[in-house]
Amino acid sequence: MTDHILVERQGAVQIIRMNRPDKKNALTRAMYAKMSAALTEGDADPAVRVHVFLGVPGAFSAGNDLADFLAIATGGEGGNEVWDFLMALARSQKPMVSGVDGIAVGIGTTLNLHCDLTFATPRTLFRTPFVDLGLVPEAGSSLIAPELLGRQCAFALLGLGEGFSAERAKAAGLIYDVVAEDALESTVLTAADGIAGKPPQALKIARDLMREPREALIARIQVEAEHFRERLTSEEARAALTAFMTRKKAS
Ligand code: COA
Repeated sequence: MTDHILVERQGAVQIIRMNRPDKKNALTRAMYAKMSAALTEGDADPAVRVHVFLGVPGAFSAGNDLADFLAIATGGEGGNEVWDFLMALARSQKPMVSGVDGIAVGIGTTLNLHCDLTFATPRTLFRTPFVDLGLVPEAGSSLIAPELLGRQCAFALLGLGEGFSAERAKAAGLIYDVVAEDALESTVLTAADGIAGKPPQALKIARDLMREPREALIARIQVEAEHFRERLTSEEARAALTAFMTRKKAS
C-alpha cells in the first residue's frame, strides 16, 4: 500500500501529511491509525514540540472514507481507529497547527476545531454534510463549534451542511488566517517553528489552561459516537451512502 499518511520531522516540528490524492484524502481506518500513533508518539517524545497537519494541493481531506461507512452501514465491523484518533486529538499535549487547501469535508473540517492555529487558502471550502448523510456531528464538534462560532453559525455548519469559505471561516472564528496557496506550507511551518521556540513548560501550562477541563469534551465525543454508530445503520444513512458510492459522474 502506498503510504497514505506521511510523518516527517523538521527540527522540533512533526508533520503529519494526509496523502491519498486520488481519493481527495478520504480517510481510511489505516490512515486514522497512523495519525493516532504519530500524535501519541510525538506527544511522548520531548524532541517534538509541535504537530502540523497538512494535506495535498487542493485537498486537505474529503472526510471519512464513505466506503468504510457503507461497510458498517451494511453490517460490517467498524473498529476503533476513528475513536482512537478523536481521543488523541482531545487529549493532545502539544500545540497542533493545520494548513488547509481546498477540500475540507467532515473530519477535514472538525479536525481543525482541535488545532491551536489553522491557516487556509482562499479556495478552501469547509463543509460538514453529516445530517445530509443521515449522520450526526462528531469529534466534539457539537460542543466546540457553538462555543467558537455561536449557535447559529454552528447550526449552519453542522446542521445545514453549509459550506464555509476560508474568509467566512476566519470571520466566524473557525480558523486563524487566510493565506495564498503558494504561501500556505511556509506560513504553517514558520508558525510551527515560532511555537517550537517558546519556553515549553510555560507554553504547556498556557495551552492546558485554555483547554481544560477536558472531561466535557471527551464525554461529548463519547455521546456523539454512540449516536453516530446508531445512525450509521439507519435507513437514512444507508440510502445516502449508497447514493454516493454508486453515483454516476458527469463525463
Ligand atoms: N470517501 C470515499 N471516496 C471518496 C470520498 C470519501 N469521503 N470523497 C471523494 N472520494 C473519491 C471519489 O469517489 C472519487 O473516486 P473515483 O475517482 O474512484 O470515482 C475520488 O475520490 C475523487 O472524488 P470526486 O468526487 O471525483 O472529486 P470532486 O473534486 O468532484 O469532489 C468532493 C470532491 C469531496 C466534494 C466529493 O468527492 C464528495 O462530496 N465526497 C464526499 C465527502 C463526504 O461526504 N465526506 C464524509 C463527510 S462525513
